[in-house]
Amino acid sequence: MEEQIRSYLEEIGRFTAATPEELDQFRLRFLGKKGILNDLFAGFRNVPNEQKRAAGQLLNELKVAVQDKLDVLKASFEDRVENPLSGTDLTRPVDDIQPGAKHPISLVRSQIIDIFGRLGYTVSEGPEIEDDWHNFSALNFPEEHPARDMQDTFFISKAPDITLRTHTSSVQIRAMEKFKPPIRMIFPGRVFRNEAISARAHCIFHQVEGLYIDKNVSFADLKQNLLYFAQEMFSKDTRIRLRPSYFPFTEPSGEMDISCHICGGKGCNICKGTGWVEILGCGMVDPQVLLNCNIDPDEYSGFAFGMGIERITMLKYQIRDLRLFFENDVRFLRQFRGAW
Ligand code: PHE
Repeated sequence: MEEQIRSYLEEIGRFTAATPEELDQFRLRFLGKKGILNDLFAGFRNVPNEQKRAAGQLLNELKVAVQDKLDVLKASFEDRVENPLSGTDLTRPVDDIQPGAKHPISLVRSQIIDIFGRLGYTVSEGPEIEDDWHNFSALNFPEEHPARDMQDTFFISKAPDITLRTHTSSVQIRAMEKFKPPIRMIFPGRVFRNEAISARAHCIFHQVEGLYIDKNVSFADLKQNLLYFAQEMFSKDTRIRLRPSYFPFTEPSGEMDISCHICGGKGCNICKGTGWVEILGCGMVDPQVLLNCNIDPDEYSGFAFGMGIERITMLKYQIRDLRLFFENDVRFLRQFRGAW
């Protein structure tokens, strides 16, 4: 009998209950009418006299152990109801916390805003759903003019006058309609073009537009602002070059290249061996556009520029495929943790 009791004691020592039901089964097994303790007490009569003392002590020990176990586990269940954290060791080190990262487009957008902020540009935004006037007509895209096809536009079928803006130049117009010169602002935002999605094109992307209108603003001011931007964004030894181009709303118009910051201008596969990469379009605001916004072109002049944030980001961080920006694969996004 002693041996049997010892093995029960061991079992009780190890016992834990996951649920109150399990605990109740335990209670019945030991303390129930036909339970182990009653059985043992019944058998106690047959224990030889000389062993009675030791067996009696053990039997009592067993009874106390069962009751103690019941009390402790019962209390733990009651406690768990009142305090769900009980049993949780609050001093344990937590699992590795994965900090988030800014999306690279947000990151570069902030950098652009910051750089132009140092030149006195404030930030404003316009609507993504735009009317024909702000996206095209006020910007000198004549009706039925093929220049409108330069930008594969999404139209709203029931309202042909309404488009998803194809560029942030629409916000130039809104700013000039709303504010009196001097105006020195940048306009970041999403733009939409009906393009097939590939490594180099997407139907949604981001631009930042810049606009500066005041008395005596010249092309030299434009060039100086853009040089400052390029050197702050890429590196101090970045060079720029302006090539003549065409936009209906600027005259003269240009496209700006920067010296390839990967090969330093020697020629590599990023710059396709030319040493230069194109990053933006720009020009002096066409006097007709000023007139369209009730600004007197005899008194004021100004410049505008527009760049794609994806393009700047791809060049800066050497990203080869535009689609990565929209897939939100955490393995890609995590690489920008702590950047800037
Ligand atoms: N809106 C033009 C584009 O999307 C860029 C641009 C902006 C050009 C401002 C000149 C001046 O391509």
